[in-house]
Formats: sequence, structure tokens, C-alpha cells
Amino acid sequence: MSKIIVQGGKQLSGVIEVNGAKNSALPILAATLIAEGEYKLDNVPDLKDIRTMIKLLQTFGLEIEKIGEHSYKIINTGVSDIEAPYELVKEMRASFVVMGPLLSNLKKAKVSLPGGCAIGTRPIDFHLAGFAKLGCKIVLDQGFVSAEASELVGNKIKLPFPSVGATENILMAGVKAKGETRISNVAREPEIDDLCNFLNKMGAQISGIGTDELIITGVEKLTPCQYNIIPDRIEAGTFIIASIITGGSLEIAGVVENHLGGFIKKLEKMGVEFEFVGDKIKVKANLEKLKSIKISTEPYPGFPTDLQAQTMVLLSLANGNSEIKETIFENRFMHVLELDRMGANIKLDGNKAKITGPVKFNGAEVSATDLRAGAALVLAGIVAKGETIINEIHHIERGYENLVERLLLVGVDIKKV
Ligand code: EPU
Repeated sequence: MSKIIVQGGKQLSGVIEVNGAKNSALPILAATLIAEGEYKLDNVPDLKDIRTMIKLLQTFGLEIEKIGEHSYKIINTGVSDIEAPYELVKEMRASFVVMGPLLSNLKKAKVSLPGGCAIGTRPIDFHLAGFAKLGCKIVLDQGFVSAEASELVGNKIKLPFPSVGATENILMAGVKAKGETRISNVAREPEIDDLCNFLNKMGAQISGIGTDELIITGVEKLTPCQYNIIPDRIEAGTFIIASIITGGSLEIAGVVENHLGGFIKKLEKMGVEFEFVGDKIKVKANLEKLKSIKISTEPYPGFPTDLQAQTMVLLSLANGNSEIKETIFENRFMHVLELDRMGANIKLDGNKAKITGPVKFNGAEVSATDLRAGAALVLAGIVAKGETIINEIHHIERGYENLVERLLLVGVDIKKV
């Protein structure tokens, strides 16, 4: 079992570059199931989750070649299978997002139910209700969900909650549906805009991008294209916190300023100042004067749940009592116990975490319980006194490419053993 070992207390400096967004690349890769022909995708991060999606696409008959560090050629000569197996879906829940593209292309799909997850129950009922509204007959049997339609027909669909995955799946199912599909109360995350822009580049007719209603006029045919994935705003946010907690000499490059809205606003309230120069961001913060704040995770443009764990490390260094309310996932506090073992003072009260600071982190042996929890432990390790050993780092590798190597280059004393 690999581990990450961090010796805390080093000064960071230089520039760290943000990679392409995992949560954009995954649905965009899945969307290549929709139309036959050759695609080229650039700025795709080299991650375990991406490799899982590629494996899944290969089981459907797609030919995929890595043609550069972050570029892939994908050839769809016809989808040969419609079944997404349990082994791959259980490895990565986002695999479920192949259902919409398969339905769009072949009007049928069979995908294993994703099952449990460390951060919450994460049902898929909104996805299925959306497919049913487009005319699909849905059958759940033996751990699989099958959907089939003689014809997909546009409809009005209102999501009960702006779910990222449901928005993506229903959108992809709808691009070739007959007539108009209106999906309201959709997720507005930048990754949704990226998927819409990709589909429109393929010839789809989607409007309302960036608003809470997407209007899709069904088209007969989509055509493959080349596309550049947007930078990963969660990776950017993680590095921004790394910079703040180590004195601000680390610059972060490849950031889209307005993708960070809700996150930046909260950090400004704490007393952090930001300077954007082109796609680079510099932070200025006096760690001793950081103010405590209250945060509630919200769908975009609110404060992202994917930065909740990492922000807890920052709030532990701020003065006074902070609070984070987690409203998106019911069980996304597994990192709290691990951070407390490193010296944090965080108490849980239902879906709220009460954080008292400032504390001094001490190195300890800990375990990453999910991707973002793992990132939080690395951040705590960077400022901790002594050595932090992080286990279960396969979670971290799902979403941060070469994290150890990249942090090493900017001054962190870190290694993978
Ligand atoms: N939900 C339902 N029914 C559904 C779908 C969702 O009740 O049919 C609930 C979920 O249980 C959850 C809430 O709605 O409580 C939001 O879930 P959402 O569907 O928006 O999440 P997701 O699509 O499964 C994506 C990201 C997550 C990110 C969330 C929220 C991908 C591959 N994953 O998940 O990313 O936390 O949106 O922004 O895009 C991560 O990268 O670490 C990660 C977990």
C-alpha cells in the first residue's frame, strides 16, 4: 500500500499550474459515445478516474489513444455493447453518466447501479425520472438499471435539486430527442457549461447555458470535434489554500477567476486578499489575523462542497469559532476525526462542523477517506510540526494528478513510498 509522507513547516514558492477539470473531462469523455467519428480531447487530466472512464468506453467498443500528456484521440466506429459492468461503476460513480449518451445514440442502455459511497447515499432517482420523461421505460433488476425507448421525445423536466450528474445525464439523453427539451432547476457548475459547449460544438442546440434552465432543441445528428477541457477549479482552490497557509509566496497558474466566485468571496471575508494577473492568482494573507467565518456549502455559484474539507484546515488556523454547514452530502465529514488527530479542534453537530482556532497542527499517521478529505490531510501535513503519514492515497490519486511531484517542485518536503 502506498503512502504519502510530508515533513511540515517548509516555505513554498514558485508557480503551480492547475490541470484540466476532472469533473468536466468525465462527462465529455462519456459524450463521445453519442456520435460516430474521430474526436480529439485536450487538457484531459491524467487521473485514475479518467482511466476508469476510458476503460468503460473501451468496453463499449471505442478506440482510445493517448496522443500527448493530456490529449486523447477517440474513435467511435459504432458502439458495440450497451452494458456498463459493476466492476467499473462501483470503482467510480461518475460512470453512471454514460447512460444519457448511450440512450441518445442507441435508445437503450444497461448500467450497473452505483451502490454506496463514502460521502453520502447519492441516489440516481433524478436521472431516472428525467429519462422516463423523455420516453424511456426503466427497469431495475439484479443491480442493473435498464432503459429503453422506441423514440426519445423532448419534454419539460424540473429537477427537484440542481444535481450535477442528473443535469449532465438528462442533457446528453436529450440532445437528439424529438422537439424541445426544457430542463429547469439545473446545476450551473462550470463543468455543466463546458459539457454544453462541447455538445454545441458537435452540433447540438443547447441554450440557457449558465442559467437554471437549459433548452435543448433536438437535432438529427451530432458530429465529433476537437475540444479543450476547462481548468479544474477545485484543484485551483486546493492550491490557493496551500499558498495562504504557507505565507502566500506560491502562485497558482491556469485559474479561471469567475469559476471561483463563492469560494473567493468567503476567503475575502476571512481577510485574504487576491490578485489576479491574467490566469495567475496570488494571495496575500496574514495568517495570525485570519478571521473566523460561517460557511454553508451550496450548488454553484455558492461555496463548493468539494472544497469543504480543505477549507476546514484553513479555518483551523483562523482566530475564533468558525462553522461549516454541509448541505450537499450527508456524510462528508469523515476527515474531521483525522484532522482532530492532527491537533484540530473540530466538533460535529449534525450537518455542521464547529471549528475552533487557531490550532497548531502536529504530524500524525492518518488515512484519506475520500478524495477531498485526502487533499485536506496533505494541506494539514504541509503546515504540521513533524511528519505526517497519509494512508489510502488511492483516493487522492483519483482527482489530483502527480500531486506529490508537483508539490515537491514548489518546496513541500513530500514523498510517496
Ligand atoms: N441526488 C439525489 N438524486 C439524484 C442525484 C443526486 O438525491 O438522482 C442528491 C445527491 O445525493 C446529493 C445531491 O443531490 O445529495 C447533489 O449530488 P449531485 O448529483 O450534484 O452530485 P454528483 O453529480 O454525484 C458531482 C461531482 C462531485 C461533487 C458534486 C456536487 C462529478 C463526477 N462529481 O457529483 O465531485 O461533489 O457534483 O458538486 O462531477 C469530487 O470531485 O470529489 C466529487 C465528489
